Order: sequence, then C-alpha cells, then structure tokens
Amino acid sequence: MEKEELKKLAGEKAVDLIEDGMIIGLGTGSTVEYALRKLGKLCREGLKIKGIPTSVHTKRIATEEKIPLTTLDENPVIDITIDGADEVDSNLNLIKGGGGALTREKIIAYNSKKVIIVIDDSKVVKCLGIDFPLPVEVLKFGWTATKKTLEQFDCNVELRKVMGEEPFITDNSNYILDCEFERIGDPAQFEIEINSIPGVVENGLFIGLVDEVIVGGKQGISTLDKEAVV
Ligand code: A5P
Repeated sequence: MEKEELKKLAGEKAVDLIEDGMIIGLGTGSTVEYALRKLGKLCREGLKIKGIPTSVHTKRIATEEKIPLTTLDENPVIDITIDGADEVDSNLNLIKGGGGALTREKIIAYNSKKVIIVIDDSKVVKCLGIDFPLPVEVLKFGWTATKKTLEQFDCNVELRKVMGEEPFITDNSNYILDCEFERIGDPAQFEIEINSIPGVVENGLFIGLVDEVIVGGKQGISTLDKEAVV
C-alpha cells in the first residue's frame, strides 16, 4: 500500500470514536486531513459536534467541509482531539510541528480529555529525534540569540524557510527553529529545559499527552495504547 493509503486508513479510523454532542480538537497535517474530510461528511449527514481547529490551515479545511466550529475560550474542555505526529516513541511521546502548528496543537492536546494520534507506520521510532528535527517556535525578537542558546544543546539549528527563501511564519506570527539532534535521550527533561529559554514560545515535544496512537501499516490498522505503556 502507498503511504497515502496508510495515512487514510489511520485518519478515517479515528473518526469512529466521535459521538454526537462532542467538542473535537482538530489537528493539523496531511494524515489528519483524512479524518477532517470524513468528519465533514458525517456532519453534513447530521452528526452534531463542534470542532476547534489547531491552525489557520485546518480552519480553512473545516469550513470547506462545513464542520461547525467553536473556540477554546467558548469551550475550554475538549472531548477528543485527533492530530498527526512526526515521530512517536514506545512511551507515546511525540515530536510534532512539521507543519509549524505545534503551539496551538499542544494547547489543544493539553485541554483534551482524550488525545488520539493518527500516523502511518514510518513515524514509529525507538528514540525521538532520530529521523526528524525538533521544531521550536520562537519570537522574532532576538531569534539569533535564541538560536545560539539552542545550539548549546549539541544540535544543528536551522531557521525554517519557505521554499528556501523567506522565513516561515507561524499562525502566531513567530519563527520556527528546526533543531537536528542525533537522538533525544530524555525528552521529558528536554521539553522543560528548552521551554525555559527566554524567546522560546513552545517546542514540539509532546510528553505524556497522548491516550492512543492509530497506526496505518501494510497489515492494516494497529493501535498503541496508553495502558500498554509501562
Ligand atoms: C503540524 O504542525 C504537525 O504537528 C503535524 O501534525 C505533523 O507534522 C504530521 O503531519 P503529517 O500528517 O502531514 O505527516
């Protein structure tokens, strides 16, 4: 099966968990888009839910799909969030932010009763940071100084650019610094250390936030469950 088919399997499967009356966190990325398209169809057929988008891009898709929307300020408790990830380890910790939406994604995940992650099987790793650079959202003000501080963590830091030209700007009007490590040994400690640097808005490590990961693989769907993590 092609990668897109695996993503579709996982994305659509997650929608089975959604019930009438729920407030749903709508993640960002190409895998979750399959969930959004299916959810849109169900809404048009009569499902009554309200969604809270994690990005301007997702808001656009949800609006196109006629998914009723609300905000975290109106509904501060979310029933289920469905989102993608760039890497998932065996403790269900994640690297996110490939699409640059990590800050809003983390706020939404933190305020959700249940967080479901949808991925294809290439995203499952033994150790975070092996395949994917860690995205860190930083203020534009003094970003070169913030970059220098991040480099002290023994990583290669690049300002994210659009088509190699202009800096990528997040929905919160900030920059993204992509930090390439050999591996991230202690992600829980690391999340705290990076976020204590002045100028850092948020980093893409999601620690202890996930309840279930739905994985699309060549053999079909499998799930990684919080209960199975020791
Ligand atoms: C958005 O900022 C990210 O966290 C995405 O959820 C993540 O990059 C996964 O995206 P894909 O499903 O497109 O790989």
